[in-house]
Amino acid sequence: MRGIILAGGAGTRLSPLTKVTSKQLLPIYNKPMIYFPLETLLQAGIREILVIVAPDHAGDFVKLLGSGKEFGCKISYEVQDKPNGLAEAFIIAENFLDKENVALILGDNLFEDDFIEPVRRFKSGALVFASRVPDPERFGVVEFDQNKKVISIIEKPKEPKSDYAVTGLYVYDNAVVQKAKSLQPSSRGELEITDLNTLYLSEGTLEVAFVQGKWLDTGTFEALYQATEFVRTKELQEK
Ligand code: DAU
Repeated sequence: MRGIILAGGAGTRLSPLTKVTSKQLLPIYNKPMIYFPLETLLQAGIREILVIVAPDHAGDFVKLLGSGKEFGCKISYEVQDKPNGLAEAFIIAENFLDKENVALILGDNLFEDDFIEPVRRFKSGALVFASRVPDPERFGVVEFDQNKKVISIIEKPKEPKSDYAVTGLYVYDNAVVQKAKSLQPSSRGELEITDLNTLYLSEGTLEVAFVQGKWLDTGTFEALYQATEFVRTKELQEK
């Protein structure tokens, strides 16, 4: 299994903080944000990692993470010229992935869980992780039937069918590259990861697991503050 950290995007929601740096380099208490998704991939046993960055601050990511030696892994880099959507990551990563399966994590997502078991068990299809949230309309939302079978995943629905958000960790087989290439941009002009998941769902190969611990998407000021508070509390408890 290879890993991708998607750390591009414009970060406009966090302006002016993101005027001179990338969102994923901002501090969460005592570490740059990207350390957290990196740790999640490392804890899942993934050692070959591609970091996808926007052109503006690409050099700062290399300065921070280097070859990956310090973290016991191998890190390579690719530039995403424009924020064309999450699913474009698999097209950019085609050569890096070769024939391997892949776990993609968003560079602004913090997970408390350890994903070593689901990653080890994964063979084919798609595996996504859902978490209960108070504001599902901000996310991809999973709809279940009475038997907890997934019926649909809708991106930022006005009227969410459940309060289960799809979190920013996705595991796919290698077919994801060709599937990503088959997507058309959405109305917001992006290759949507939700459309990819819907493709797997229509083939009957999408599995949804549930996040047990805390999950934080740090894309807003409020979420950034909560993440800092959460990490601080944990660090102080562990001292
Ligand atoms: O956080 C989980 C959510 O992430 C999912 O529930 C949604 O289904 C999924 O679409 C995504 O929604 P967001 O609105 O949070 O996506 P956003 O555009 O904020 O991008 C997430 C991260 O990916 C962000 O740190 C920037 C980065 N990014 C984004 C785009 C569109 C890229 O690196 N490249 C891109 O082209």
